[in-house]
Amino acid sequence: MPHRPVLETAHTIAAQYLDHVASRHVGGTATQEGLRRTLGGPLPLGASDPVAVLQQIARDADPGVVASAGPRYFGFVVGGSVPVTVAADWIATAWDQNAGLYVVGPAVSVIEDITAAWLLELLGLPGDAGVGFVTGCHMANFTCLAAARHEVLRRAGWNVEAQGLQRAPRVRVIAGGEVHISAVGALRYLGFGTEEIELIPVDEQGRMRADALTAALSNGDGPTIVCAQAGNVSTGTTDPLHAIIEAAHATGAWVHVDGAFGLWAAAVPELRSQVAGIEQADSWATDAHKWLNVPYDSGIAIVRDTAPHRASMSMKASYLQRGTDEERVAMDYVPESSRRARVLPIYALIRTIGRDGIADLVRSNCALARRMAERLAQADGVTIVNDVVLNQVLVQFAGTAGRSGDDTTRAVIARVQAEGTCWAGGALWQNKQVMRIAVSNWSTTEEDIDRSAAAIRRCYQALRAS
Ligand SMILES: Cc1ncc(COP(=O)(O)O)c(C=O)c1O
Repeated sequence: MPHRPVLETAHTIAAQYLDHVASRHVGGTATQEGLRRTLGGPLPLGASDPVAVLQQIARDADPGVVASAGPRYFGFVVGGSVPVTVAADWIATAWDQNAGLYVVGPAVSVIEDITAAWLLELLGLPGDAGVGFVTGCHMANFTCLAAARHEVLRRAGWNVEAQGLQRAPRVRVIAGGEVHISAVGALRYLGFGTEEIELIPVDEQGRMRADALTAALSNGDGPTIVCAQAGNVSTGTTDPLHAIIEAAHATGAWVHVDGAFGLWAAAVPELRSQVAGIEQADSWATDAHKWLNVPYDSGIAIVRDTAPHRASMSMKASYLQRGTDEERVAMDYVPESSRRARVLPIYALIRTIGRDGIADLVRSNCALARRMAERLAQADGVTIVNDVVLNQVLVQFAGTAGRSGDDTTRAVIARVQAEGTCWAGGALWQNKQVMRIAVSNWSTTEEDIDRSAAAIRRCYQALRAS
């Protein structure tokens, strides 16, 4: 089968989807059973026309496709995709390069190098740091914390890659009480049990208390890793990084910053003060598929010193041709061997909108989050729980007849999701049910915010009236 009709069909399906993504019901409308019925069936035994297969996928999957790429999806922290990044991702797929080694993808290898340097400049991080392009912030946390584990144990005279962890000196791992679950997961993969993590109390916005960290640090010694956070997944607030890093470095601890979306505040001059001191940390994890608005999956691991970064990730075999010193060995910076060229959309985005465009994207989302908070707070019974310092808005709805505030908030979330103008999820914030609204899509406008706020208010009013 020639490739053109197949690729052109995919192009048409994708373009038609994006033509209407802003006007469709934002949440999925299918049931799981319905999707299984239309998409399932017996194992296909023979060949089918690939064009017909693509058309069938588009038709049958459609009710189960969530418009998270659209402008009124506010769930989790899900960015959309700027069109050039979708297109660059298609090209990466068509090229089908293996980004593991220079020799199997020289252009991609060089693009990784160039993009790494641009990202470090954009984020104001040390220009000679190591950068790995991974699937998401979870794996970025893993990569950075593996480097941290290597280095704190190396300083204690232990080679964890060679000698393992079972007889190693004990490593203290300290994190804020609001540490993101993916950092905990990454620590688990690295041999640190969840019960071993020392959790430091946080303030009312979820920021680690630097005074409590200082006290904890003085209460022990030995190899230590401190996990700080830029951008709490609920409130968007950042730990007091300057004080945390100063206190931790005074004791020789490694400081890792999980900045899945909050790190991008560093790219906006007027927001940079929120992450002041961040460049002093030892490692940073972030996502491109959130606020940078490139397609899934795309995360970035950054480690100040390339020696522990490479020591913890690097694998060698005689057939894995390394080439000259100038040739990037991308495998040395990530936990994977074979890997798609997921850097390409990031590179295309930076080339297309530049540093100023990226700052505008983040800045505009923050302004829209404030607008959302203002619109919602005008309604009787609606409380904005967090300081809206970034793109996150937490909302509580006062109880209606016979229902607690928590139950009411849950019921409003369910109504909003079913109504379909926009989509917002929920979470417990300091033991209270909240609606979480994250504004992280490049295409969201003021009109989208006003329409969505009106829909949320309508859902609440309807519940009150019922
Ligand atoms: C602070 C923080 N860290 C890590 C992650 C995990 O990111 P991912 O799901 O992209 O791996 C998230 C996701 O929301 C996050 O908010």
